[in-house]
Amino acid sequence: MRIVQTLWFVCLTFLGIFFFTGCGSEGASSAVAGATEEASEVVEETVAEDVEDDGDTANEAELAASAERGSEVYNTFCVACHMPDGNGLAPSFPPLAKADYLMADATRAIRQVIYGKEGEMVVNGVTYNGIMPAQPLDDEQTADVLNYVMNEWGNEASMLITPEMVKEERE
Ligand code: HEC
Repeated sequence: MRIVQTLWFVCLTFLGIFFFTGCGSEGASSAVAGATEEASEVVEETVAEDVEDDGDTANEAELAASAERGSEVYNTFCVACHMPDGNGLAPSFPPLAKADYLMADATRAIRQVIYGKEGEMVVNGVTYNGIMPAQPLDDEQTADVLNYVMNEWGNEASMLITPEMVKEERE
C-alpha cells in the first residue's frame, strides 16, 4: 500500500513538473514572439517615416538650390523688364510677384520663357499687350529661373520644375 502511494506521488510530481515547464516555456516563447513582432512593427514604421522625411527634405533642398541658381539667371535675363521686386512695370511689363497668370499653369510658364510671347494677356485683372522675346536659356537655367520666380516675393509653387519638364516643351 505504501509503495503504491509513493509511486502515485512520484508520478504526480513528474506530471506536475512536466505540465508546469511545458506551459511556462510556451507562455514565454509566445511573449517573446509578441515582443519581436511589436519591435519589428516599430522598426518598419520608423523606416517608413524616415523615407518620407528624406523625400521631403531632398525635394526642399533641390528646390532651394535650384531657386538660388535661378536668382542669378533672373538678375541677368529678366530683371530689366520684370524689375527686382518682381512687380514688372505697368503698362508694358506684367508682374511675376503674386501673378495669377504665372502661378496658374507651370507648363504655360515654361513655354513663356522658352518661346516668349506677344499679344494680349491678362495678369491679375490687368490686360497687357506687349512682346516678350524668347529667352536664350538652357533647360536647367529655365527650370532654375522658374523655380526662383515661382517661390519668391510670396509666391509658393506646389511643385518643383525640372530640366526634364522643360525639355519636353521644346519642339
Ligand atoms: C524685354 C523684356 C522682357 C524680358 C527680358 C523678360 N520678359 Fe517676361 N514678359 C515681358 C512682357 C512684355 C510680357 C507680357 C507679354 C504679352 O503681353 O503677351 C511678359 C510676360 C511674362 C510672363 C507671363 C505673365 C506673368 O506675368 O505671369 C512670365 C511668366 C514671364 N514673362 C517670365 C519671364 C522670365 C522668367 C524672364 C527671364 C528669363 C522674362 N520673363 C524676361 C517682358 C520681358
